[in-house]
Amino acid sequence: MKQKEDFYREIDIFSKGANGFSPFIVDIMRGIEREFGGIEKEYVDYISEKFGVKVEEVLDTAKMLGMKLNTKQETLEIRVCLGMHCKANGGEFVLDEFKRLLKIDIDETTTDGKFSLTVQRCFAKCTVGPNVKVGEKFYNRVDVEDVKKIIEENK
Ligand code: FES
Repeated sequence: MKQKEDFYREIDIFSKGANGFSPFIVDIMRGIEREFGGIEKEYVDYISEKFGVKVEEVLDTAKMLGMKLNTKQETLEIRVCLGMHCKANGGEFVLDEFKRLLKIDIDETTTDGKFSLTVQRCFAKCTVGPNVKVGEKFYNRVDVEDVKKIIEENK
């Protein structure tokens, strides 16, 4: 019986030098599914990272081939501070950029369920604002230009 580490090792070996989709991805996912009855999100993320393929592409391939995915993920809450200090330093523009890129408004969730967006009145970290909290992670001195990177980092 194969263990979790065996599949990580397989991914490491077969992804060497890979930079895009490879039939090995399908073989590895089939092996994981056979062994564990489904494919966990952590494997999808690892395959994506090692093969240089988007997470969505890995997921779509698995779905297309009828594989069972255990990738139910929780929605990550993005809290943008609009307290006095953060607002005065551009917090509203940061919020607007999140709205624009995620195509949602305050208190809404993205269509893929990955992110929700909400507003915070103050995190008591005013001196390093504008502040944004994504899940449990804090981002300080956030600028409009940082928003895209923050989203990508948490996908
Ligand atoms: S106003 Fe944003 S942390 Fe206080």
